[in-house]
Parts: sequence; C-alpha cells; structure tokens
Amino acid sequence: MTDPAELAAALPPGFVVGAATAAFQIEGAVDVGGRGRSTWDEFTQRPGAIADGSNATVATDHYHRYPEDIALMRELGLDAYRFSLAWPRIQPGGKGPANPEGVAFYDRLIDALLEAGISPMATLFHWDTPLELERAGGWRKRETALRFAEYAEIVGHAFGDRIASWVTLNEPATLTLQGYGLDVHAPGLGKTLSVIPVARNLLVGHGLAVQALRAVPVKGRIGITNVHTAVVPSTDSRIDAAYADLFDFLHNRIFADPVLLGRTPRGPKAVGALGVALRVLSSTSARDLALMSQPLDFYGLNYYFPSRIGAGPAPAGVGTPDGLSDAMDATPFHLQEWPEFPKTGFGWPIAPEYLRLVLEQLAHRYGEKLPPVVVTEGGASFPDAVGPDGQIDDQDRIDYLAQHIAVAATGAPGVDVQGYFVWTLTDNFEWAAGYQQRFGLIRVDFDTLKRTPKASYRWLQRVLSARQT
Ligand code: BGC
Repeated sequence: MTDPAELAAALPPGFVVGAATAAFQIEGAVDVGGRGRSTWDEFTQRPGAIADGSNATVATDHYHRYPEDIALMRELGLDAYRFSLAWPRIQPGGKGPANPEGVAFYDRLIDALLEAGISPMATLFHWDTPLELERAGGWRKRETALRFAEYAEIVGHAFGDRIASWVTLNEPATLTLQGYGLDVHAPGLGKTLSVIPVARNLLVGHGLAVQALRAVPVKGRIGITNVHTAVVPSTDSRIDAAYADLFDFLHNRIFADPVLLGRTPRGPKAVGALGVALRVLSSTSARDLALMSQPLDFYGLNYYFPSRIGAGPAPAGVGTPDGLSDAMDATPFHLQEWPEFPKTGFGWPIAPEYLRLVLEQLAHRYGEKLPPVVVTEGGASFPDAVGPDGQIDDQDRIDYLAQHIAVAATGAPGVDVQGYFVWTLTDNFEWAAGYQQRFGLIRVDFDTLKRTPKASYRWLQRVLSARQT
C-alpha cells in the first residue's frame, strides 16, 4: 500500500502519525547548559564499544538546531512528536533540584512544537542514566527507582501543563538485556544475572513515576513503551521450544505482564542456569506488583522485527540485533536468520505480518487489561545512497513504512491501535552502531549537519496531506 492516497484512506479517523527520537541520539551539546554525564557519555569512550568509534558529543546538534527540525516536522505534516527528556540535563547528577538551563531547553522545544501545531509526547527515560547514579549501582539498585520518581515529579511540574502524552520508560527490556545482561549498550555490564534486579527496579521506577506524574497532576495521558517481538523456535525440537519460551519471557513478558496484569509471568520452563534464576522473579512482592501495574492511559509498543530462537550459543561473529557481544558466547540460545524475508541495513527481517501477530498476542495475553495501544516506534535503517542530484531515493524505507503503518492502522480484534510513530525523524547516533545505520526520514550529513529530506519524507507528506480531516 505505498500509494499515498490509498494508505491515507486506510487510516482511521483520529489515527495519530508522528515521529520519535531520543535525546542522546540527537541532541549533542553534551557540555552545554549544565548537563551532567550519562552512562552513554562514558560508554562511547570504551574502546571497541561503538562500531565506528564515534560518540554523540555533537550527534545531529538538535539542541541548537531544533527550530529547523521542527520546521521540517511542520512541513511534513506530523500530528505528534515523541522526544525524550535527558535526565542528566534536568538533574545533572540524577538527584537534587532541577537545572534551570536544562528545563529552559525543553520549555523552548515544547513551546515551539505547540506553536507548530504538533502534539508533544515526552519520554522520561530513553537509557541515558545519570552517571553518578550508575556509579552507585544504577538500576541494579532500588534507590535509582526512587530518584526516578523525584525526577518525574520535577518534569511533571515543569512541563505538565503542555505535554499531551507521557512515556515513563523506553524499552526497559533493551536496557536490561543489552546494557546489563550483555555489554552491547551502556552501562555495558555484561552480567547475565543482573537482569533480575534491573528489570524489577525499572518497573518499580515506572510505577513510582506514574504515581508522581498523577500527583502533580499532569494534564497529559500516561503510558510506558515496551518493545515486543514475536518469538518462534527454529525447529520443532523441545529444546528449541524451551529456549524460545525463555526468550519470549525475557524480552516480552517480564516487562509486559507485571505492568498490564499486575503479576509476573508463569515460567519460563527451567532451562539452563538463566531459566532457573529467572524463577526468582515470581517472588516479586505484592506491593511491588501493585506499583508496577498502575493504571495507564495507553500502552506504547515498539515493533521492529520477529525473533527466531535456537538452542545453543551463537556461532562466532553472530551477535544481537544491536551489535556484537562476546558475552553472547555464554548465552545458551541464539537468534537465527530469516532467509524468507528481505532485510534492513541492520540485517533485520522486514516482516510486517509479525506486527499483526504481536497485536494479536497483546489482545490474547492481556484482554480487557490492555489499554489503547500506540505504536511509539517502528522504522528501518538502509544504506541510503545519495544520487548525483543530491536526492535520496529510499524506496525500501517507503515500502517498510507503508506496510507497517497499514498493519497498525488495521489493528487486530481486541486492540485499539491509536497511532504510529516513525523511527525516526533524522539520521542520528544509532547507539552501538554509531553513525553507520541511518533510520531517518531526513538525511543528515554528519560533516556539515545539513538536513536533506529523503523520498520517504516526501511520500509521508503526501500520505498525511491526503487524509480527510
Ligand atoms: C530504540 C531506539 C533505536 C531503535 C533502532 C529502538 O529499540 O528505542 O533508540 O534507535 O530501536 O535501533
């Protein structure tokens, strides 16, 4: 459904189309305005951590160039923009009073969005933990959840009159698994068993932040963003099925079940030391489960690709979808290829039918407990050749977005899908991949920081302007 008029006609009335970003990936200006250090500032210095040896001290310089970026969003016709607040800009050390310059930056950003008629969705935390908190144990410690609630109260008071939607955490699964369990992301701990306290503390932090925002009270709707993947075993064997179940548990259910059902998921089947250790989660106290399952106004879903799981460690050179990790050698299961699907630049399978499956699973698993769903991220990286005329003909991205937005707009029985946010507005710092994976609707030349809308931007512009209002 790449025809703009056809896709526009398939969008239900009120279906929100936006773009999503994250502070660390775009802002740059790391030493400006009293910003403190985050785990990612430190991690990018670690030799070998970032594929191209880069860092995000400049990134796209959105901190200074946000007026230009908002002008591009307005011209594109976006309904909404999802961005994240950098905790170390608001509270440089992760505690204490707000840094006025940090607050002033987001005041300017939010006011400029409202001025442009774009509805702001703010994520409180997109992985940039203040370094001081990390040094004291970070999300391995419950104290970080308590600090997070204080930060939520600060931002609730500062921006609560203008933010339309709040997301407490972005993808706690990714931070837990890639950052603490492995060492692909910051803080790069690489300690498999740390995933248990980290997952628990993140979800407690989420619950406390919801309570803090409601107590302010903020005007906007409140949700969380989890990343979901549909998991299939690579063969019919019992052992592959057991590890697929374990991966579903680790990636999806640990994070969704407590939030939506107020209980820890049953299982997983006790495979390997990790499977056995994860059973500890079932001892989560009733008090914590009550905190984790605060009523939400919407459920943010990030969907990128499905996962095929086989038993046994990964063959040499096979990493996680986000990068390589030696720690994968010790992981008792691995992710397998999907030869039947085309691939993104990252090598991720392009499988929109699995977005539908994820929606069906949400309906099946959570039933009436599932709030309206907003797809808070979806998108694809491609190598994006620049033509002799300077234009970027990213038809592959148009295809990806057309297919996935159409699935989201169609939804599934029992799920009210209210919107889709494209990841992402501009090319940016793609975590462990540095600047090597381009996801943007707008190209950024990282030497000059010049922005050039790609064909996908023009295509989405036509979709949005073809909608009946
Ligand atoms: C994250 C983004 C990231 C994107 C592509 C999502 O998991 O929220 O920060 O850039 O995936 O890897």
